[in-house]
Amino acid sequence: MRHFLSTEDWTRGELQALIDQARVYRDAPFSNVLQNKSIALVFFNRSLRTRASFDIGAKQLGAHALVLDAAGTWPIEVLDGAVMDGDAEEHVKEAAKVLSRYADIIAIRAFPKFENWALEKQDPLITAFAKYADVPIINMETIVHPCQELAMMMAAQDNLGATDGKKFLLTWTYHPKPLNTAVANSALLVASKFGFDVTLLCPTPDYGLDDHYMSAATENAAAQGGSLDVTHDIDTAYAGADFVYAKSWGALPFYGNWKAEKPIRDSYKHFIVDEDKMAETNDAWFSHCLPMRRNIKATDGVADSPRSLIIDEAENRLHVQKALMTHLALQVGA
Ligand code: CP
Repeated sequence: MRHFLSTEDWTRGELQALIDQARVYRDAPFSNVLQNKSIALVFFNRSLRTRASFDIGAKQLGAHALVLDAAGTWPIEVLDGAVMDGDAEEHVKEAAKVLSRYADIIAIRAFPKFENWALEKQDPLITAFAKYADVPIINMETIVHPCQELAMMMAAQDNLGATDGKKFLLTWTYHPKPLNTAVANSALLVASKFGFDVTLLCPTPDYGLDDHYMSAATENAAAQGGSLDVTHDIDTAYAGADFVYAKSWGALPFYGNWKAEKPIRDSYKHFIVDEDKMAETNDAWFSHCLPMRRNIKATDGVADSPRSLIIDEAENRLHVQKALMTHLALQVGA
């Protein structure tokens, strides 16, 4: 049985097949291919795009989507052998197995708690669901966001054609709060897997991403004939870029100690994506996973420009997740 926890477990060809099927669904949205199937969407954190696109996408294929809103209301134990004398009323062993009796797919959104990266980088909740569930698990964002990867790559291919050898810039941007590294990790994974020459721009080494994702992206780049560079110089990063992807995240050395990071982060507001920086690129396309604070992460002029793909990428979530649900629900004997 196959899960979709991270694109690290999927080949470029397999991911391309999902994107190709997504284009089929974009042209012909409605079918009964998943008639009588059910998907349980479990949200430990809020969502607009993920929730709407999975729910509507399932219904467009004849399936039933059950949205379980567990944000702040459903403490769940993940440790084997735990003495459950705290807040958690339910162990993931039962939760995963019971939901597996009702639904054909379980999808989970569970952000890290921003307390202990060494622990949270193990992605304990979704890993436990995958261990105990008897049906496929889809990651709707934990410490990576693989559905967003598919949507972004579909938008990139639609506008750039082949991505091999094109320059992909992942730029850190300011945000008043320390955000999850999930989308940044994912952008590195998928851009490197699809042969881009990837540049990571961040203010200082403290804003670098976890070694696991840097190593995975380096390996992808070596396998695909691309490259991975890290720079703290804005002009170098933007020069010649074909695709600019913006995201903010908290500096990992300050994980759980965000008060100390805040004044440091506040000094890097000039990393905003603006028209002057985009003018240094190779007429690059711009995108962001959304939600995006306007005139903080990117100016209105960039977000609303004809080169902005933010709405197309969000639309693609619907198409790629329909392809993913179809693939996982109909897998036979795997
Ligand atoms: N990009 C994304 O996952 O959006 P939501 O948080 O609204 O689901």
